[in-house]
Amino acid sequence: DSKPAEYNKYLAHWETGDGGWDSKYKGNGSGFSDRLPKGSPLAHFERRKTTAKQAFEAENGDNNPFTGEPHSQQYFNILKSRRNLPVHKQRQEFLDLYQKSQILVFVGETGSGKTTQIPQYVVYDELPHLSRKLVACTQPRRVAAMSVAQRVADELDVTLGEEVGYSIRFEDKTSSKTMLKYMTDGMLLREAMHDHDMSRYSCIILDEAHERTLATDILMALLKQITRRRPDLKLIVMSATLDAQKFQRYFYDAPLLAVPGRTFPVEIFYTPEPEKDYVEGAIRTVLQIHAGEDEGDILLFLTGEEEIEDTCRKISLEVDELVRETDCGPMTVYPLYGTLPPHQQQKIFDLAPPPLKKGGRPGRKCIVSTNIAETSLTIDGIVYVVDPGFSKQKIYNPRLRVESLLVSPISKASAQQRAGRAGRTKPGKCFRLYTEKAFKEELIEQTYPEILRSNLANTVLELKKLGVVDLVHFDLMDPPAPETMMRALEELNYLRCLDDEGELTALGGLASEFPLDPSLAVMLISSPEFYCSNEMLSITALLSVPQIFVRPAQKRREADEMKNLFKHNDGDHLTMLNVYHAFKGVLNRGEDARTWCHKHYLSFRHLSSADNVRAQLKRIMETQGLRLVSTDFNDKNYYINIRRALVTGFFMQVAKKEKDRVYRTLKDNSQQVMLHPSTVLQTEYDWVLYNEFVMTSKHYIRTVTGIKPEWLLELAPAYYDIDSWDGQKDVKLALKAVADKMRRRAAMKGGH
Ligand code: CDP
Ligand code: MG
Repeated sequence: DSKPAEYNKYLAHWETGDGGWDSKYKGNGSGFSDRLPKGSPLAHFERRKTTAKQAFEAENGDNNPFTGEPHSQQYFNILKSRRNLPVHKQRQEFLDLYQKSQILVFVGETGSGKTTQIPQYVVYDELPHLSRKLVACTQPRRVAAMSVAQRVADELDVTLGEEVGYSIRFEDKTSSKTMLKYMTDGMLLREAMHDHDMSRYSCIILDEAHERTLATDILMALLKQITRRRPDLKLIVMSATLDAQKFQRYFYDAPLLAVPGRTFPVEIFYTPEPEKDYVEGAIRTVLQIHAGEDEGDILLFLTGEEEIEDTCRKISLEVDELVRETDCGPMTVYPLYGTLPPHQQQKIFDLAPPPLKKGGRPGRKCIVSTNIAETSLTIDGIVYVVDPGFSKQKIYNPRLRVESLLVSPISKASAQQRAGRAGRTKPGKCFRLYTEKAFKEELIEQTYPEILRSNLANTVLELKKLGVVDLVHFDLMDPPAPETMMRALEELNYLRCLDDEGELTALGGLASEFPLDPSLAVMLISSPEFYCSNEMLSITALLSVPQIFVRPAQKRREADEMKNLFKHNDGDHLTMLNVYHAFKGVLNRGEDARTWCHKHYLSFRHLSSADNVRAQLKRIMETQGLRLVSTDFNDKNYYINIRRALVTGFFMQVAKKEKDRVYRTLKDNSQQVMLHPSTVLQTEYDWVLYNEFVMTSKHYIRTVTGIKPEWLLELAPAYYDIDSWDGQKDVKLALKAVADKMRRRAAMKGGH
């Protein structure tokens, strides 16, 4: 039996244990008050006719013009530093251009004040109490949306979540008072599905447009149309690179405002030979800087959470030794990546530590970050940048139908942005861990827009829901390859989200309500038919957060032993479900879940966030009238039902066994794949479905569950239509045998 003992105790409490998200949900931020606090200087402002001088005076006042509360001392301190930012000098120029144009392109170096200041300039001119509409500012990254919203709430001297809020997938921190909303580009896109004109907003600011994320590209195309329908809507496209003509041209030759950069020279160093191990090289370089270079903080770019945490640990250990043995100053090391909890993110803005003793060598901080620190977040005080030249990038292969995150070389443009981070406050140095020749000859100029590197199934579904009828003529800045588009349409058709004419089906419409990939959404929607929607909610939530199992390099064996406690022989999905049930048991008994997770090598953070995600998905299920049901736990079909429900979403991600732990995917340029080492699957299954195809030097499938081929024929007959099968011959024969067996069985049943 694969169920942990805690499970049964937990079962009784099943529906009571949701995270607190529902109770915290505070509506969507429209309908704020049209009344200003008494004596507010804004009362004399005329919408879209204000001046910078008027705004300065209002900002200088004793009381907050939006809330009427007295301004704090912190407010005035920050105000002083805000007025040193490069954009400040151009506030009037900005307003002039803003007031006379509907669309505006705004470029400026990272750190010039675009993200924090421009939305505030807009609020002071849009006057939400008059327009009764919000100002939105999109960010490609969740972390940036959250941390910038916090910063701007401080700058405006208001509580985060009230006048200034943020909205990211699975978390809405806004209220009826919200007038300025930072949000991920993906969230604005989701909102647009129900509000095709984005009518809640008077101005939309697309920030970090140069990043060219999938959602930003789609938003640009939508807004290009919406601005024609809604002359009152303003659009600002902000970008960190000076390559802005492309945006101008795309947006009907919109005017451009450029803030001159304020950067110091950065000296660039290359390695004479290529690095064998870039992480090792990076650690060595950081230590050399700390031991030998003058005062100033260090920023090291790496690729992902695990690598970053690992490296932070190693650097800290080495620094401790250095401090013991030499006269080096102290150094604090901070990680920075997308899923870092907010209170830890905020720490990167802490000051460097003071010298160990009076007159000793100064301390410094070292931030080890993903691409987030490239343009999204500005950290003052960075003087040294260490750039190994890699980042994790999404790659899509439409032939294999595989989308994966791969550690890949960055572009020249990225390398330049990274180096620029060193010259913010004084002249800096950038250490590139690659040769100058490699930089010149091997790096591509620009990173390709995400839309050219993605599976578009989700996007196509969203566009259909957004009412875009003619996908071919939808005016994208860089249209994707027709093959990728075809693949997406085909996939959605197999999932029954689009009919044979390419029209949105009822199922497709329902699926688009979930902030999930279509396959996950379809699986969730089908799950009541399999009497396991409660369980599928949990599994879907677990698949939507980062890996819940922790496996530290030095403690692999211990971690694996702990994982074995939760192991389900039929595969990883059910193992994860066991973990979640046990986790909920711990929570419901009021035990210390953090300690419990630590002891069992589980991520408390990711499990808690799965719990939140689950609560939200549950809300959507309820709103959409989908039943929440479970099979009786003692019923022999309890796990079978779950595995069958998995097939309804993942029938296109199935592999058939060739030999021990070696499988072969079925259609679409069938590939040989290995079970990922993390896979617990123990029972011998000839057919498995997988959540993820991992491309490294070998191909792996990860998060795998055993299934029966009968289920494929029964639950996905169109995809597994034997007569039109164009995949492997032996698979066709195997499927045919299964079909014959099913027919014989049915006949026997019918005959008696
Ligand atoms: O968007 P852009 O890169 O042009 O600049 P920004 O994000 O508006 O940052 C302007 C300045 O605000 C930075 O140089 C920081 O000094 C400050 N800032 C901060 O102190 N804390 C934050 N969370 C964000 C910005
Ligand atoms: Mg910015």
